[in-house]
Amino acid sequence: MKKILIAVGSFREKSLNRQLAREIERLIADRAEVSYLKFDDLPFMNQDLEHADGTQDPVVARVRADVAAADGLWIVSPEYNRSYPGQVKTLIDWLSRPVIPGDYKTPLPIHGMPVTVSAAGGGWKGQNMAAKLVELLKFVRFADPTEPMCLMGYGAEALKTNVLTLDDETERLLSSQVESFLAAVGADD
Ligand SMILES: Cc1cc2nc3c(=O)[nH]c(=O)nc-3n(C[C@H](O)[C@H](O)[C@H](O)COP(=O)(O)O)c2cc1C
Repeated sequence: MKKILIAVGSFREKSLNRQLAREIERLIADRAEVSYLKFDDLPFMNQDLEHADGTQDPVVARVRADVAAADGLWIVSPEYNRSYPGQVKTLIDWLSRPVIPGDYKTPLPIHGMPVTVSAAGGGWKGQNMAAKLVELLKFVRFADPTEPMCLMGYGAEALKTNVLTLDDETERLLSSQVESFLAAVGADD
């Protein structure tokens, strides 16, 4: 069974994006194995942690291994100041680096890996975040992110209650993104 790894760009306990991720998991159902990437302990990028002999910081190594074991990465993220959160950038920066500094010949697991983006955001529905994240993902050579992307507005009530609800249109859009991503990872082959 294909493995879909979900990286939630918010570390907040009651994160609306984490709730959106759970909806994605519900819609994927038993057509792929879903797991969540733990990266809240990932250090900031620091080239002193990149070792010439190929040894790795243990957390960086674990995160890289989790991503390498996946058939596709689904990033569900809030928008912070019209862009993606710093922790998402840190994650992508680590994944974009060779294990042995200067080794740009060995392909990385993320090269050509299926990827997609969803968001639960405010008035902009995470659109600024998604546009910039798509640009970044293409630059580091993931496969072109699949479409459609479900970028939803969580609404004022959800901010007060911390409960995310999907209207019918959002549910349809999310289902359509699920179908497209399952096809990209070859889940039904
Ligand atoms: C530093 C920061 C910057 C933010 N900037 C934006 C923004 O540019 N656009 C937006 O729609 N919401 C913005 N927000 C609000 C977030 O969308 C909101 O806090 C959301 O609930 C975070 O997602 P989560 O519930 O998954 O943690 C910002 C929040 C923070 C903490």
